[in-house]
Amino acid sequence: MYTEPTTFSAEEYFATQLPPPTLQQDVARVKEFVETHAKEARGVVLVTSGGTTVPLELNVVRFLDNFSAGTRGATSAEYFLKAGYAVIFMHRQFSLQPFSRHYSHSTNPFLDFLEIEEREGETTPTISVTPTKREHLLDVLSMYKKVHRAGTLHTLTFVTVNDYLWLLRAVCQEMSVLGRKGLFYLAAAVSDFFLPRQKMSEHKIQSGKGSLRIEMDQVPKILKPLVDEWTKEGFIVSFKLETDDKLLIPKARQALERYGHQVVIGNDLHRRKFEVVFVSRKNNSIDGTSSPSFEEHWIRIALPEDHHGPVHEGKEIEEDIVAELLRRHTAWIEKGNTTSP
Ligand code: PMT
Repeated sequence: MYTEPTTFSAEEYFATQLPPPTLQQDVARVKEFVETHAKEARGVVLVTSGGTTVPLELNVVRFLDNFSAGTRGATSAEYFLKAGYAVIFMHRQFSLQPFSRHYSHSTNPFLDFLEIEEREGETTPTISVTPTKREHLLDVLSMYKKVHRAGTLHTLTFVTVNDYLWLLRAVCQEMSVLGRKGLFYLAAAVSDFFLPRQKMSEHKIQSGKGSLRIEMDQVPKILKPLVDEWTKEGFIVSFKLETDDKLLIPKARQALERYGHQVVIGNDLHRRKFEVVFVSRKNNSIDGTSSPSFEEHWIRIALPEDHHGPVHEGKEIEEDIVAELLRRHTAWIEKGNTTSP
């Protein structure tokens, strides 16, 4: 099974790996969505969310995966919608989604607060909501219905890292017509390693040979073409996840230097629900004559008592993250208006 690793540029990647079968129809729908909202001069944000899988076989039985549940992406998408943005929510199939996320965890399953009432004289029982849960459900449901009536949420799904890369490129290219009004919020946890299809076993890997040794290739650094070619004027926010605090700011700065985009949001695996750091270039300008200087802006919310639970009904850090980004995105759009001829 062992084969020497190959280094793929983004170009080589797309020239050698196959697109997902639904790509064309997905892109046609995104194009329509973007055109509608561009006409209405609405800001459009792409939110990527959830983890990616890395299949080990062409007829896939086994795959590698990661921890991301899609909480950051689904929660942020809701706050972008509340702020009046149109949202392209590109998420890992079966990860959390805006609105339904409140009720899809095992700690808060919606079936637990529905009641069955048998009324005298009526043959069909009535279903009602437990009174203590009604107010919260009404808020969520009202917002969900409003968003659907307004047509401001468009959902796309991916599973593998290959699906993700093809979709990301196509969506960014469609969004480039938005110029500075396009916002890119890349919260997905994307695998850094993959097995090219040319090196994959066609059928299920057999266990008869004992141990298994696989050397994976590196997924090309996709932020480079995204910033330089796919969507040149968009406001791009990437994330950096670390488990060692000391690496968070140096790695975020390194990403800004390497890719030249606007913001990296750093988060620690265990503190990510109540602490993040925005790292950006001072004045958001790239000064070619001197080494770039950076600034950090921390956002913290009070630690909830049960912070290990997946859902808490108190303050969510994404509310403050999105508010801060809206301020920066507006400034970015205004700056474009003053510098354009
Ligand atoms: O989903 P949750 O459980 O709520 O968790 C949220 C999160 C911790 C996953 C999220 O907040 C986060 O930090 N996501 C990025 C994780 C990360 O460290 O990504 P990275 O260093 O591999 O990638 C850097 C950035 O480039 C990320 O914005 C990523 O989405 C993007 N990327 C990376 C590789 C690639 N091939 N394509 C990309 O777009």
